[in-house]
Amino acid sequence: MPKVIKIEGGHQLEGEVAISGSKNATVALIPAAVLANGPVTIVGVPEIEDVKNLSEILKLLNVEVHQPASDHLIIDPTHMRNIDLTADAVTKLRASYYFMGALLGKYHYVRMKMPGGCYLGPRPIDLHLKGFEALGAKVEYNRGCYEIKADRLIGDKIFLDISSVGATINIMMAAVYAEGRTTIENAAKEPEIIDVATLLNKMGACIRGAGTNVITIDGVKSLNGCFHEIIPDRIEAGTYIVIAAACAKKMKITNIIPHHLEALLSKLEEMGVNMDITVDSVTIEHTDHLRPIDVTTKPYPGFATDLQQPLTVLLTQAEGESKVEETIYIERFKHCAELAKMGADIEIGNGEAEIHGPTSLYGTKVAATDLRCGAAMIIAGLLAEGVTTISNIYHIDRGYDHIDEKLNALGAKVWREKVDDEEEN
Ligand code: EPU
Repeated sequence: MPKVIKIEGGHQLEGEVAISGSKNATVALIPAAVLANGPVTIVGVPEIEDVKNLSEILKLLNVEVHQPASDHLIIDPTHMRNIDLTADAVTKLRASYYFMGALLGKYHYVRMKMPGGCYLGPRPIDLHLKGFEALGAKVEYNRGCYEIKADRLIGDKIFLDISSVGATINIMMAAVYAEGRTTIENAAKEPEIIDVATLLNKMGACIRGAGTNVITIDGVKSLNGCFHEIIPDRIEAGTYIVIAAACAKKMKITNIIPHHLEALLSKLEEMGVNMDITVDSVTIEHTDHLRPIDVTTKPYPGFATDLQQPLTVLLTQAEGESKVEETIYIERFKHCAELAKMGADIEIGNGEAEIHGPTSLYGTKVAATDLRCGAAMIIAGLLAEGVTTISNIYHIDRGYDHIDEKLNALGAKVWREKVDDEEEN
């Protein structure tokens, strides 16, 4: 029976919250680990559904997975075998596509279903596939499955038309064992890419330039196991920072890398949010008046598209008209329709939204149409008068570690209830 999240809004939050390891790094680090020939220990693993699904895929590949602590994962691919990835777990998240690069790199062959994940408008993977082809692979798509194979993988120069996070990471993984040098130009620069390159280099790969727009990978013959600690989740951090700005008396968000959050923090400063930033934390105190702002999403280090949805909720509380322009996923505005059900005054145009504030929000039934829409609904529920009921919460559980517990520890009133299918929809 599906569950909903219910939130009784209007409670001022207070206290400290620690941010978990990065989801978007973790979902790439797990497939990357199979490139090793020995056990890889990853710590700081968030407890989220995406990790459970990836672990299920690992087990199908006969990779041993141990979890000595809730945030530790030991991945041992010593007895791994390459099989067709057609299980449901593959379609439950988008990041299963990192097995394409990893298995192609290791075995020169991969056959897998189309990956799933949040629908944010069309999400093509043409750049991943072009990258594999540039390394010498042949790609075929038949009856819902990709088959990618190569006799040899040979390093090449690959220019990405769009600096895609997924394509950059996938090509890096396919290229670690390729002969000679691969160069990725116009590579994405997100911190998660540096984290994956760091893991691969600890395993013995030779990757230079991660975090810049030119990455070179010199192929190696063998990779070993290693130990790796995941970077903090900048999107989870950003979500709690927005929660603090929206409804906290005083809240400290710890285990963050403020440098990864500069675009958000500078926008919040422009709004007049009261913040004290240290080397690994930010403390936010209640502000009476929030100023409206204009925000445009951009690849890192620009304003993250994933934080656009949570931020929109805060903008409903600013005094005046704010504008959000979405340049990464121009259809990523489903949260606005849900917010409108709660009383927000938002006009949606082509790839942009105008938010007229301040508006009071009231609790009603809304849906988490995708992961970050879910985060936005949680923030709206915390702010709203009355009880908000959020359905489709599997999206939230894919990416937020113990969100109910973390919020309740801050003084929120969040709980789950079972509902029948009809009520959920
Ligand atoms: N794109 C193409 N062709 C491709 C790949 C991407 O046209 O082959 C386009 C996309 O359609 C999009 C743009 O390039 O317009 C950027 O997409 P990117 O490939 O960078 O996104 P992604 O790797 O699929 C990751 C995160 C997303 C995040 C985006 C943008 C993971 C697992 N997902 O997706 O995170 O929104 O980068 O930063 O890392 C989330 O966490 O909620 C989430 C959706």
